[in-house]
Amino acid sequence: MKIAELNLPQALKDFYTGSGIPELYPPQAEAIRQGLLDGKNLLAAIPTASGKTLLAEMAMLKSIAEGGKAIYIVPLKALASEKYDRFLEFSKLPIKPDGVKVGIATGDFDSRDEYLGEKDIIVATSEKTDSLLRNGASWLSGLSVVVADEVHLIDSPNRGPTLEVTLAKLRKINVNLQILALSATIGNAKALAKWMDAALVQSEWRPTTLKEGVFYGRAITFKKEKRTVNNAGPDEVNSLVADTLEEGGQCLVFANTRKSSESIAQKVARSLSKKLQPAEKEQLAKLKQDVLRHAETDTCEKLAECVGNGVAFHHAGLKGEHRRIVEDGFRQNILKVIACTPTLAAGLNLPARRVIIRDYKRFDVNYGSVPIPVLEYKQMAGRAGRPRLDPYGEAVLIAKNYDEFGELMENYINADPEHITSKLGTEPAMRAHALSAVATDFCRSRQDLKAFMDTTFFAYQRGDLSHVIDNVLNFLLEENMIIESKGGSLKATDLGSLVSKLYIDPLSAALIAEGLEKAKKRPDVAEFGLLHLICSTPDVKSLYLRRGDYSWIIRYADEHASDFLSDVPDSYGDDVEFEQFLAGVKTAALAEMWINEKSEEAITTFFNIGPGDIRNLMETCTWLMHGTAEISALLGAPATRTARELAIRIENGASRELLDLITLKGVGRVRARKLYDAGYTSRDKLKAAEIPAIAAIPGIGDKLAVSIMSQLGRKVDHTPPETEEQPQVSGQSTLFSFDG
Ligand SMILES: Nc1ncnc2c1ncn2[C@@H]1O[C@H](COP(=O)(O)OP(=O)(O)OP(=O)(O)O)[C@@H](O)[C@H]1O
Ligand SMILES: [Mg+2]
Repeated sequence: MKIAELNLPQALKDFYTGSGIPELYPPQAEAIRQGLLDGKNLLAAIPTASGKTLLAEMAMLKSIAEGGKAIYIVPLKALASEKYDRFLEFSKLPIKPDGVKVGIATGDFDSRDEYLGEKDIIVATSEKTDSLLRNGASWLSGLSVVVADEVHLIDSPNRGPTLEVTLAKLRKINVNLQILALSATIGNAKALAKWMDAALVQSEWRPTTLKEGVFYGRAITFKKEKRTVNNAGPDEVNSLVADTLEEGGQCLVFANTRKSSESIAQKVARSLSKKLQPAEKEQLAKLKQDVLRHAETDTCEKLAECVGNGVAFHHAGLKGEHRRIVEDGFRQNILKVIACTPTLAAGLNLPARRVIIRDYKRFDVNYGSVPIPVLEYKQMAGRAGRPRLDPYGEAVLIAKNYDEFGELMENYINADPEHITSKLGTEPAMRAHALSAVATDFCRSRQDLKAFMDTTFFAYQRGDLSHVIDNVLNFLLEENMIIESKGGSLKATDLGSLVSKLYIDPLSAALIAEGLEKAKKRPDVAEFGLLHLICSTPDVKSLYLRRGDYSWIIRYADEHASDFLSDVPDSYGDDVEFEQFLAGVKTAALAEMWINEKSEEAITTFFNIGPGDIRNLMETCTWLMHGTAEISALLGAPATRTARELAIRIENGASRELLDLITLKGVGRVRARKLYDAGYTSRDKLKAAEIPAIAAIPGIGDKLAVSIMSQLGRKVDHTPPETEEQPQVSGQSTLFSFDG
């Protein structure tokens, strides 16, 4: 089917043809026949790289040309930026008088982001979309198309419920909404399609060949052929990498932990360094400098070292800047190999000729080491052989012995993907969704709520949710977050409505509210008490306890005995409860070090975590502390001011004395400290200073000095020299990092 024949705006057809896409792939053509361009709901459960994004683009842009508006929901941040960059290419498309406006929804979870109402396409994670609904963003009722990319995420215990409830809500408030769900091939696509009243496109067709196989005994056995690996040595990963690089391809290596992704990268870097050409080395040296520019810790140094040799690692413990450098370096074929955790598994278009899945098992707290599902294996494998980037792709698992070889062939290469199942039927999953449905007046009674939950995938698959809903409503009634009238109508209290908007788990909010009630009876509220309070809620993923931790944490807890705002369990009582308490103390201790300006290096070493972990954890803590301040204000507790200050300090990792300086744009904790130590201890003192004196402080420079002065309202007619580096204004970040 030719693009030129489609019922699409001419400008869009010209755009595709001009960019080398004159014809649809067969599954895309099938989607057109099933009514994609006639506003029909559609589920495309087709292989990786089969061009699902193009389906979304055509549906969205056709609708936008007719005055509509679209939201594109994704699971991961890396994918959100890839899609955002792609859709920006349509900005100048003359299908609307002022072009197509694209937005990406990041940022705080309690804002409505009304400016997004101006946009035609909004890219957002499912959590952000949910939070926009809770905060009553008006434009969400004016959507014409919703795209749920990687919709098999519904299967995820942590994140699936939010996605399915969000989809159900969007459908309820937009009667003529077209839903387009994009999924990998799954076992029960029919059921999912039926739930969405959608036509189904299913196919095994892939534009480029993806050969999947197992490496054992110096050769890769694919389904239909065998490939001998040239010069295979004792190290499997190194042999597989060298083999692909020799033929000019690039490699992705998937590992199950961050640590092993790092050691794989180091190992590959050592053997690759000898084979690089001088011109390649030169480019890599530049990239290494880019990494070092943002380096504060050992992990960053390690990354820089690997990058200098053409290899990188990539996981959620890396800083955002480093992740981008790595992704871009690989896209430009400067980096030859990335060793990563599954952060790069979903949806991304990367030029990987060969994907090596080094670990097919993953650690699970309840079950120990377990094999990953076929669906997940397929996601990783599917990064190889992307059309227009590679002529074909190979995905390779590694077997240690003949038995394992047989198992891997049977359980992955020749296996069908699993069915996906909804995880909405538990109280933790239901709590927040029930509260938000009531708080937004979306459901006004128990029956209403049950009727709405009846439209979810869970109800479709498993039936009745009444029991869970009743339990959750009883909890919310007890915690004074909702009230039920005699006539049976439900309403949120001020507390309930605040909690829903703040996007925190109602159980966390209940624990915080209880702690704040205790604070009312205290002469003062200790900072550590508040830190510990938020760190003991289910929203904060506590640090694990290691064997060597117990003695110092118990001592630490003793020293802070009078600070705690939550119940301190008896050390001779319930083991699990006591351990949870200690894990909360450990996490709070990290937060305390962070706000007392301990270096990232010191914290990562002491707690044995990555710099990105500190950021992720502190982002969540900032959010909860902000929530604590709001709840404290509502309850009239004496912690509002301290909590507000703490939220700013956690966000920036700064001591109390830096509060005045830290909120200046371009001034992080390191620069604020330098200004402070140079005698500029407040905004007033800075305002009275001379620009050259400020600029001369190491790390400040002309441009930032000028920017600070103009932020302070001083007139500046000082033009800084062109060569000066731009001040680093910290960007707005999203609240949660979802990647593993
Ligand atoms: N009809 C077409 N002709 C040529 N190239 C195409 C066509 N449709 C899509 N492509 C290209 O195929 C590539 C892969 O597409 P896309 O990322 O949409 O795959 P996907 O199906 O979403 O895969 P995944 O399941 O991995 O997310 C893109 O680079 C896209 O430009
Ligand atoms: Mg995709």
